[in-house]
Amino acid sequence: MSISKAASSNSAQTIIERLQIEHLLSSKPSPNQLIDGSDVIKGLTHIPKSLPARYFYDDRGSELFEQICELPEYYLTRTETTILQKCAIEIAGITNVCEIVELGSGSSTKTRILLDAYNQLGYPLRYIPIDVSAGILETSARQLLADYDSLQVHALASTYELALRQLIPTQLPSRMICFIGSSLGNLNPQECDVFFSQIISALQEGEYFLLGIDLQKQKHLLEAAYNDSQGVTAAFNLNMLEHLNWRFQGNFDTAQFEHWAFYNETQHQIEMHLQSLRSQTIQLRALDLTVHFERGETILTEISRKFDLNTMQQELSSRGLKPLQVWTDPNNWFGLLLCQLQPLTSVTVAA
Ligand code: AVJ
Repeated sequence: MSISKAASSNSAQTIIERLQIEHLLSSKPSPNQLIDGSDVIKGLTHIPKSLPARYFYDDRGSELFEQICELPEYYLTRTETTILQKCAIEIAGITNVCEIVELGSGSSTKTRILLDAYNQLGYPLRYIPIDVSAGILETSARQLLADYDSLQVHALASTYELALRQLIPTQLPSRMICFIGSSLGNLNPQECDVFFSQIISALQEGEYFLLGIDLQKQKHLLEAAYNDSQGVTAAFNLNMLEHLNWRFQGNFDTAQFEHWAFYNETQHQIEMHLQSLRSQTIQLRALDLTVHFERGETILTEISRKFDLNTMQQELSSRGLKPLQVWTDPNNWFGLLLCQLQPLTSVTVAA
């Protein structure tokens, strides 16, 4: 783990003082960190093949994701932004002064709406962005510091898990962990369960969890959002192979794979795959791994679950993360839930 204090050309002193970036991951695989490739080996040797969605987000992947958020078909970001604009002041009013921790912060664009609200109420601003892409983390932290005079940023280049375990006690009266953008949709029900436990362990009683989730809707709307006409989603999907090539000395040829996404109505989830266009064998030298693909064989790269708002509220409540307030848009396409960790004794254990 290394801590770097970043320098900046103009108004340097104040930005340096307000910025701390901690790298909990290094770009080289090593046995004692989470990105050691064992998950890649597991996914590519299992049938059917799969890869963790986390590998979308190298610096290029994060850029492509930002482009996805601007696509006309990708309603998620726009809809959540509208909801946040409507309720940010209300959120700040409920939580009062608190540190904002964000999992998968990316460009932090939507978070600015929250920061504006806390700022408007005259609250001190302390922000802990967490992202696996160190590049986007540093760029957006610097932009935020330039735009908010009193903001303190402690950025963590890390996976969620690792960061949640290492959060240092907050200096402010409370804390809110934000998991917006429906990234929860990438987790299967089991992983979701583990994730909620990790959130609960990272919070003190009375602290907050802000969750944004994409809701169930018509198949054609969902499928359009993951098969955009400009092919950005396809490029984003294929970039995962480039990321693996770089990280694990691989020789995937992206021209030999094709993007494939559809809505699985029984599981209520979008499934994104990469389909092999021919019979081929690839190597990932750093992992000592050789993988054969049949023509037409697929790798599942992402599930994006679509939720039912009532079911989610019940699930959170039963875990002791009580939804205090729930917001949605006029179409009921997206949901935002502000939850508070209840004292352990008030949690009703389901039979
Ligand atoms: C960031 C996980 C919410 O599932 O919609 C966008 C990622 N994948 N287009 C999503 C994604 C394809 C996105 N999440």
